[in-house]
Amino acid sequence: MLERLERLPTDPILGLMGLYRADTDPRKVDLGVGVYRNDLGETPILGAVRRAEQVVLSRQATKSYVAPAGNAGFNQAMAKLVLGDGHPALVADRVRSIQAPGGCGALRLGAEVFRAAQPDTVVHVSTPTWANHIPLLSGCGLKLERYPYYDAASGGVKFDEMLGTLDRLPARSVVLLHASCHNPTGADLSEAQWRELLGVFKRRSLAPFIDIAYQGLGSGVAEDAYGIRLFCAELPEVAVAMSCSKNFGLYRERTGCLHIISESPTAGDAVLSHLVRIARSIYSMPPDHGAAIVNEILTDATFREEWSEELGAMRKRIAGLRAEAVKQLAKACPQRDFGFIARQQGMFSFLGVTTPQVHALREQHHVYMTDDSRMNVAGLRADNIEYFAKAVAQVLRT
Ligand SMILES: Cc1ncc(COP(=O)(O)O)c(C=O)c1O
Repeated sequence: MLERLERLPTDPILGLMGLYRADTDPRKVDLGVGVYRNDLGETPILGAVRRAEQVVLSRQATKSYVAPAGNAGFNQAMAKLVLGDGHPALVADRVRSIQAPGGCGALRLGAEVFRAAQPDTVVHVSTPTWANHIPLLSGCGLKLERYPYYDAASGGVKFDEMLGTLDRLPARSVVLLHASCHNPTGADLSEAQWRELLGVFKRRSLAPFIDIAYQGLGSGVAEDAYGIRLFCAELPEVAVAMSCSKNFGLYRERTGCLHIISESPTAGDAVLSHLVRIARSIYSMPPDHGAAIVNEILTDATFREEWSEELGAMRKRIAGLRAEAVKQLAKACPQRDFGFIARQQGMFSFLGVTTPQVHALREQHHVYMTDDSRMNVAGLRADNIEYFAKAVAQVLRT
């Protein structure tokens, strides 16, 4: 029966990774894959993770199942991380959490529970959004629509258009928002814009589904969660999908969680019972290892301090690379303004060149990014940033 299936095209990012690997030029620059890199081009294991992992392993006495909702300590620590200690939703016992296989697992669980509550739910995503949001959210049968977001002319957010579109949606529409470090654009909402957006969510009774995959890599742990903390304090219902892939560097350990903030503890218990059933029907139990490490880090003062410092160093490095890229690009192509790169935050920005120019960067200069010119700024290094800027200048001249 399976012989009926036709071969699918290669995933563009995986295809790009293959091309990069096969390129033998020592000057090659990988701005394609969305992982953090240090100045040696490596994606290292954080010191806090290494040390906490030793503690976890030395203490572990069994490999028996944990639970469909995962590690309770991890879930609680993650809720506090995103909401901040003493958040009114925590105090009122309105938060229910389920560990998930990465942020992707959390997004899918969220989509499934919205579908369970309302099968004809429409999820509205930003234009553009992270490519994987589409299959993750629509894969369970939800309909997707788009709202305006990125303004390529300014490198910022088309906020008035976004607001105008959301202000016309029917009640109980789900709106997917990026908490910070928007992927793929790097363009984020200001605190004032989050407050204005809140007014629309209240007025139209919209359901926010907020994805936070880069907490601490933009402006800071609390700053990057500003919108989440505001919405969870002010709205009856919010879904929050968290990932530990980037900020803890736990990519392959598949560590994340979904929080549902409900109107009351009883409503929260009902939602959680559905989430547990959904998890049982997809993968049964989440993997334990990454969550055990994160729990150890977040609940031990020494590990937590070390992690905060390492996270701060990653954040500073990205901001530094953004500033340096703007400087080098201004030198190499003074006719064009790339200042938006330093106004954006997180790992990604659109360089804003055409697909043929992206191909020229790859073929003539060994600089790799996706066809839409999304670049992972963390893939730049002190020793290749000037080379990168000169390569951009050359393709812009052709
Ligand atoms: C916007 C966004 N959300 C969620 C994720 C989830 O990542 P993971 O499933 O690896 O934790 C990512 C990872 O790239 C992302 O960019």
